[in-house]
Amino acid sequence: MTIFEALFFAKIVAGCAIDPVEYARGNHLEPTISANIRARHERRASIELRSSQKIAIDNVRVFDGYSVCEPTTVVIDGDTIVTDPAGARHVDGNGGVLLPGLIDSHCHPRNATELQELTRYGVTTAFSMACFEPAMCESLQDHPGLVDIKTSTTPASAPGSVHGNLTIAATNSTALLLFNSSQVPSWIANQTSWGPNVIKAIAESPGLDESTLKAIATAAHDDRTQSVCHAADYKSYNQAVSANFDQVHHTPLDKPVDQDLLDRMFAQLQVSAPTLTMMQAIAEKLQESFAVANASANALHAAKIPILAGTDSNQIPGFIANVPFGSSLHLELELLVAAGLDPVEALRAATANPAWRFGFYDRGVIAPGKRADLILISGDPTKNISKTRNIERIWVAGIEYEGPLGT
Ligand SMILES: *[C@@H]1O[C@H](CO)[C@@H](O)[C@H](O)[C@H]1NC(C)=O
Ligand SMILES: *[C@@H]1O[C@H](CO)[C@@H](O)[C@H](O)[C@H]1NC(C)=O
Ligand SMILES: *[C@@H]1O[C@H](CO)[C@@H](O)[C@H](O)[C@H]1NC(C)=O
Ligand SMILES: *[C@@H]1O[C@H](CO)[C@@H](O)[C@H](O)[C@H]1NC(C)=O
Ligand SMILES: *[C@@H]1O[C@H](CO)[C@@H](O)[C@H](O)[C@H]1NC(C)=O
Ligand SMILES: *[C@@H]1O[C@H](CO)[C@@H](O)[C@H](O)[C@H]1NC(C)=O
Ligand SMILES: *[C@@H]1O[C@H](CO)[C@@H](O)[C@H](O)[C@H]1NC(C)=O
Repeated sequence: MTIFEALFFAKIVAGCAIDPVEYARGNHLEPTISANIRARHERRASIELRSSQKIAIDNVRVFDGYSVCEPTTVVIDGDTIVTDPAGARHVDGNGGVLLPGLIDSHCHPRNATELQELTRYGVTTAFSMACFEPAMCESLQDHPGLVDIKTSTTPASAPGSVHGNLTIAATNSTALLLFNSSQVPSWIANQTSWGPNVIKAIAESPGLDESTLKAIATAAHDDRTQSVCHAADYKSYNQAVSANFDQVHHTPLDKPVDQDLLDRMFAQLQVSAPTLTMMQAIAEKLQESFAVANASANALHAAKIPILAGTDSNQIPGFIANVPFGSSLHLELELLVAAGLDPVEALRAATANPAWRFGFYDRGVIAPGKRADLILISGDPTKNISKTRNIERIWVAGIEYEGPLGT
């Protein structure tokens, strides 16, 4: 029995157990950082050759966030969507549906190959939800023509907790753990100093106490930075809601969210990223039922809590379940629809909703002035969500992705 199995069967943790020994073994940061930086240099050199083009994509049916419109032309100038096609090279969209590039609100990429994986499935923005080492996260950013990686802080966690042990394994140090709320100001100052996009905390048992969680969420609000709390069991979910984090990620595996939680989330304008792909992977691995997570997603949606599509995709050794990059976002959309979302609502969960909630107003919709993150689809995903898998072409900030496309 591995460490994480032992933990699970002891019911110490539901949802996200990690084997720290395995994790540490897979976490050779320095060679990976150097390789990522090398890959970025090589991409920059090759991309420069085809920069600043103007492209008119003719005969496309644009998804405007609500429906699919009559065929039209969408023009890209450099990295931006514009209106004037003068001087553009024309590309035939063949009557396909043009979607904004997809956004994965929760994943854990670590190398340039994984960025390629995300991109070739049409994921043009992804939120890396655990950064233990700023240089590592930075090495995944600014790869032209590949997915734009936004990043969280180190997840705030407590000594002796599953995630605290993971932080120790990842950093070989206890310096980033939080004993109590009095440490929150210095922890926040330390973490925000390198410019993460999101402040992340972990609710778990044993874990951070309620006053510490509350202090982190409050500090994030004061800093005007989006806050995310991990919660994979009912008690932790309740703590994340009570602390008033902007976003609660995952869903309980032990007991569905109930009306009391839903009412408080609605009143506090909180949003949910259920990460059904990961909840299903964990349920399968531990021979538990996925129905509980599915029921929560259904209830959250019925209660009009905004939903974000996140996968928790990772290839981290020792993680409770590995989930593939890119293809998993299409699975997440299918699972959200199976849980009761309309396909249009699922598409918004992977486009406009996360763009708006995370504060990236330059993307998530197809409109003049927005980033030219676009995917061309054959078939109509507003009628059948699985059609998002029929990707014909991909542009990331105006640069067409030229490798083999995912299906
Ligand atoms: C974290 O690691 C410590 C030291 O190895 C161990 O005593 C503790 O049980 C671990 N915590 C959990 C929740 O597994
Ligand atoms: C971990 O830290 C200890 C001291 O804090 C040091 O002796 C050891 O070499 C470090 N291990 C690794 C793998 O960096
Ligand atoms: C918080 O934890 C620190 C470090 O263990 C300790 O020195 C301090 O007394 C604690 N403060 C409170 C209010 O418990
Ligand atoms: C944040 O804390 C870590 C761990 O103590 C330390 O290595 C790092 O230098 C600190 N960063 C800043 C900007 O203070
Ligand atoms: C998920 O929830 C939906 C809506 O309640 C239901 O139709 C579906 O059967 C559920 N699926 C699973 C696997 O529980
Ligand atoms: C990147 O990670 C993948 C797992 O997703 C691994 O198979 C591959 O070897 C890694 N590539 C590099 C260059 O580290
Ligand atoms: C939806 O599309 C998928 C993939 O193209 C197909 O396998 C499936 O049968 C379609 N579902 C319906 C209800 O038409």
